[in-house]
Amino acid sequence: MTQSDQETSTRLMQQHRNVVTRAAALTAVGGVLFGYDTGVVGGVLPNIASQFNLTNPFQKGLVVAILLAGAAVGALIAGRLADQLGRRRAILITSIVFVIGLLLSSLAPALWVFWISRFIIGLGVGSTSFVVPLYIGEIAPPERRGALVSLNQLSVTVGILVSQLVAYFLAGHGDWRVSVGLALLPAIILGLGVLQEPESPAWLVRQDREDEARTVLATMRDSEQAIDDEVEKIREVAQEERKGSIGELLDNRLRPALILGVSLAIIQQITGINTVIYFAPTVLQEAGLGSSASLLALVVVGVVNVVLTLVAIRYLDRLGRRPLLIWGMVGMTAGLVALALAFAIGIHGAGAVFATAALAFYVGAFAVSLGPIVWLLIAEIFPLRVRGQAASIATMSNWAANLVVAVSYLSIISAIGETGTFISYAVVTALSLIYVVKKVPETNGLTLSQIEAELNPSGTAAPETGKVGAITPSG
Ligand code: BGC
Repeated sequence: MTQSDQETSTRLMQQHRNVVTRAAALTAVGGVLFGYDTGVVGGVLPNIASQFNLTNPFQKGLVVAILLAGAAVGALIAGRLADQLGRRRAILITSIVFVIGLLLSSLAPALWVFWISRFIIGLGVGSTSFVVPLYIGEIAPPERRGALVSLNQLSVTVGILVSQLVAYFLAGHGDWRVSVGLALLPAIILGLGVLQEPESPAWLVRQDREDEARTVLATMRDSEQAIDDEVEKIREVAQEERKGSIGELLDNRLRPALILGVSLAIIQQITGINTVIYFAPTVLQEAGLGSSASLLALVVVGVVNVVLTLVAIRYLDRLGRRPLLIWGMVGMTAGLVALALAFAIGIHGAGAVFATAALAFYVGAFAVSLGPIVWLLIAEIFPLRVRGQAASIATMSNWAANLVVAVSYLSIISAIGETGTFISYAVVTALSLIYVVKKVPETNGLTLSQIEAELNPSGTAAPETGKVGAITPSG
């Protein structure tokens, strides 16, 4: 190879990398939308409640809950849309849904319009949480897939932080409509962005459009051989998938993985993370902390969430999933007990600082454990042939559990008080920890069939489907 040949080939490889990176930037926008739309309510709920005269805890919980119900439905619909219309069109529709929901919400003249708009935004959130990572996972070359799953969680935390900063800085101006409407920007970027991107090669092959798939792959992969191998692999997987069915998911061999995936998705929510993300300012203000101080507390929590997610991404593959998960959950339990204590003492003066520290400690412990690792495990523990369906069931369970917590949380507080509530969450977290210690295998560095064998020692493992690497949706 002459020097100029070499230069051309290096330039081409760089171009291929850039194509994938540009598509991956969409993950960031999708994740940010997921984070922003779910997070923004934490800061603006007190304002919304006073504007629409929502006085009882059930109504306040509903502001959050309707979005989550929409998300559960959205995750389900997105699975079908993405299979039938393709990943690109599904993302485009998602962004249009977002734009409609966000416009309706920020302009809502009456409460009923506001309720409907919340559901529509929810459809968008659920859909993004499923389809954007799915698309990116299929575009990315195998060696970059694992990192992208956790990158999604990072974008979610960044979206949450931005929403908290917006709530903090706009709070003085009292307009929640601007805070909600700001999400229009990423929603439009997502829609326009995806128009520039190619369709997923994996989807094209499944549609028997192999020529188009090869054309797309030629812009992203470095050799004919790599393209041939990839198309061949997608074909094999597609054949396996055709054999896979929901019924099969319930058979003896796969049931342990499904139970584990769904349990983890539920545990991520019932240990209370979103009581903090969605309701901290509401609860802190009701406990007597000033409005600006409670929003500031939320920003502190948001920064800790982002920073410790970065730490988790760095150490996940070095230390393994189990140690981070277990020690993180021990930390979450301790944080919840401290929080209960803080409310018992009173949220004034030093008590307010102590409460904020406890909140931050708890969220940080979540960010190194249940936050990223649940989504990662959901991507790793299912055999390839049923992975899409299984991951969508787990994603839906996550949103449904999120909904149950959101609806009940403020009502539980008004029934048994903050201290009792956080002690209850501490007990749930400790019990979940026992489950995790007993049931979660270390998946770090194992192949998919090794994981399958570990989850089901008596059964026969499915044929080798490749090294652990996330290629499924997470959200
Ligand atoms: C969860 C969200 C949560 C977020 C907080 C995600 O992994 O699924 O429900 O709000 O983490 O960072």
